[in-house]
Amino acid sequence: MQNLRLNPNLLNVPLYVAGKPIEEVQEEYGLTEVVKLASNENPLGLSALALAAFEHALKEAHRYPALGDRNLRRKLATLYNARHIAEFTQDNFLTGNGISDILRMLFESFIFDGGETVICTPTFPLYRILTTQFGGKCIAVPHKHYHHDLLAMLDAITPDTRLVVLCNPNNPTGTLITRDEVDAFMARVPPHVVVVFDESYFELVEDPNYSNAAEYIQQGRDQVLLLRGFSKVHGMANLRLGYALGTCAMIEYLHHAQIVFNTGDPVFYAAMAALDDHAHIERVRELIAAEKRYLYDGLSELDLTYVPTAANFILLVDLPRDAKCLYEELLKRGVIVRVPAGFGLPDAVRISIGTHAENEKFLHALRDVLRNPNGKPIIHE
Ligand SMILES: Cc1ncc(COP(=O)(O)O)c(C=O)c1O
Repeated sequence: MQNLRLNPNLLNVPLYVAGKPIEEVQEEYGLTEVVKLASNENPLGLSALALAAFEHALKEAHRYPALGDRNLRRKLATLYNARHIAEFTQDNFLTGNGISDILRMLFESFIFDGGETVICTPTFPLYRILTTQFGGKCIAVPHKHYHHDLLAMLDAITPDTRLVVLCNPNNPTGTLITRDEVDAFMARVPPHVVVVFDESYFELVEDPNYSNAAEYIQQGRDQVLLLRGFSKVHGMANLRLGYALGTCAMIEYLHHAQIVFNTGDPVFYAAMAALDDHAHIERVRELIAAEKRYLYDGLSELDLTYVPTAANFILLVDLPRDAKCLYEELLKRGVIVRVPAGFGLPDAVRISIGTHAENEKFLHALRDVLRNPNGKPIIHE
């Protein structure tokens, strides 16, 4: 690499550390039964209707993607108009290879010649990673009792701020920004700043006071973008699809950063079927709600402190043991969780809510680790 001219921005990019794959843990620890509660995936998987639509569309796999993108955007417009009494069209939507890809387009479009991003810490690491990749500066504002400190975030805005990212519910804390808080924020945010609402987990939110960023877009505020996707409730994390909702002018601008054919038609058709499978969505929501209560009870019994969540993951804080050590002891017992160090919280553990059997295995393993800190795992498969 010595003679090559490298991009100095890239050399400063922190690498994203993903949740450990099941097969890797099986190999490393010689286990057959391993559960993964590390990446906030949908424990019930993909809807059967979505799978059928995906398979059907595969017969055109030899062709370049055609109308899948447009058809999905039309469907989203119809859905949002029914829900919000709005007048969105397909031109209000932009699709990408996961929300991650939408974020990439967004940061490429707004972070250049030294622009700044304001985020909360802890939060989803990609915001910081992308800011650095595009040569910007990331201002991370500490959380207030695990919630976004919106007043401090407003204070952190400078003339160079291009983006403020509000992750709602926030990953890894699971906390919510309410409608009133959004209204107060939007009343004060300067017009030169793009406000990005990352709502990856919105379908799981039960609180009726959840924010409604779509209303600001409906009112024609170019500076507001709403990001949602198909990786969580729709169980399509491995198929890669996300979208942004914004004013037509904003979406048209972002199109310039889109890579052509970034997602295939089978994925778009799976997504359309997933949106129609209300029974599957309801099953997922019910499972997460019930298992959240089960985990809260189990954690309380163990005297552990957690942050109440609006999403499908729970953050354990003020741990009685070192987080990394707890993580490793759980791995030995066949349970993969996450230490959200890259999110800005090296002293916590985040667990995703799984099926009942997976959560039971996690609580058993956790009990074993806490009661038997120096011993060998007493739980066998
Ligand atoms: C807050 C947040 N944003 C974005 C993503 C990435 O989503 P996608 O799979 O659609 O790229 C995740 C994934 O965990 C997330 O938690």
